[in-house]
Amino acid sequence: MAKHWADFQYEIYLNGMTGTVPRLPTDLTRLEELTEQRLGPGPVGYVAGSAGDGSTARANRAALQGRRIVPRMLRDVQERDLSAEVLGRALPAPLALAPIGVLSIMHPEAETAAARAAAAQEVPFVLSSASSTPIERVAEAMGDAERWFQLYWAKDREVTRSFLNRAKASGFSVLVVTLDTPLLAWRPRDLDQAYLPFLHGVGTANYFSDPAFQAGLTKPVHEDPNAAVLHFVGMFADPGKTWPDLAFLRENWDGPIVLKGIVHPDDARLAVDAGMDGVVVSNHGGRQVAGSIAAADALPRVAEAVGDRLTVLFDSGVRTGDDVFKALALGARAVLLGRPYVYGLALDGQAGVEHVIRCLLAEFDLTLALSGHATPGSLGPADLVEQSV
Ligand SMILES: Cc1cc2nc3c(=O)[nH]c(=O)nc-3n(C[C@H](O)[C@H](O)[C@H](O)COP(=O)(O)O)c2cc1C
Repeated sequence: MAKHWADFQYEIYLNGMTGTVPRLPTDLTRLEELTEQRLGPGPVGYVAGSAGDGSTARANRAALQGRRIVPRMLRDVQERDLSAEVLGRALPAPLALAPIGVLSIMHPEAETAAARAAAAQEVPFVLSSASSTPIERVAEAMGDAERWFQLYWAKDREVTRSFLNRAKASGFSVLVVTLDTPLLAWRPRDLDQAYLPFLHGVGTANYFSDPAFQAGLTKPVHEDPNAAVLHFVGMFADPGKTWPDLAFLRENWDGPIVLKGIVHPDDARLAVDAGMDGVVVSNHGGRQVAGSIAAADALPRVAEAVGDRLTVLFDSGVRTGDDVFKALALGARAVLLGRPYVYGLALDGQAGVEHVIRCLLAEFDLTLALSGHATPGSLGPADLVEQSV
């Protein structure tokens, strides 16, 4: 029998019999405000902040909230199975933790705590290139649990090749290539505080520990950290890349490759032509193009354009179990969870991340059941209507 994530609610109520209540709210939309109260303005601004006036981040939420579920009755939802095959991997639920860089600004145990939480809940952890913990240490913390690697595609080919080799050697199965960040966007919350962790050598662990990166320095990182930071800044991203460059990644990565940041159906078609395995429909949580299309509005157009020729994943704005339901109904195979897990980490370390995963999937399981579905596979556009809220 498949795991019933919804049972988490009985666990909570049973714990209540001995006077224990959850340490964090079960309505995950409340986590941001709590984190704002507990953490310094720099780190919170970096995570909660978005590009420009924040309109894309708001549009992400509005696009999900503006789609309403139409529940069906009397459809035997006693036995449910949330498992999903995603990119050839068998997952217990259609969920992964999104790649988020620089987690040490939120909690001292950083990526290690988040990765352990993901492993404990059997949810894939997508490690960012810009993590504050090196690839190998995150892998060590995860045992043989499912892990994917997110690439910021560096200007320096040898650094990119080295990252791919390190990720492969450390058991990362899927490559997620983020395309929407060839430059850092205009982010007023960070600008107003002149806060950019990378300039302090935070979020550069994979680079500073990399032999190909080190080969480009005249002195070792610890002898001249400023030079290392400048070297990082100069090669971190490459606005000159175009579609034919993807061949290099295909040659250097044997497993599935997923392009993250796709919102135009024509780009999704180009991903198919380039032999990619999947796309993540995402606008980086509204952190890159202010005024861009909401991710959930882009999703059905992309899903329709590619059909079953590649796997469509989704992020940007997912906060609740019904958001997961809606994303799957709009054509996503699975969803990446971003900011909420980072708030869970900030507020309660590994336990906080596990709390967030369990709440989200319990709520999703219940939404599925109460709407007349026993598996995510039966969801489709007919389960939603558009309605202003
Ligand atoms: C603080 C922060 C750091 C991020 N770092 C990365 C990163 O290193 N690589 C990446 O591909 N996406 C990164 N993202 C984007 C997430 O992977 C994801 O697309 C986004 O969080 C989804 O939006 P949401 O959290 O509002 O749902 C980051 C997002 C945040 C909030």
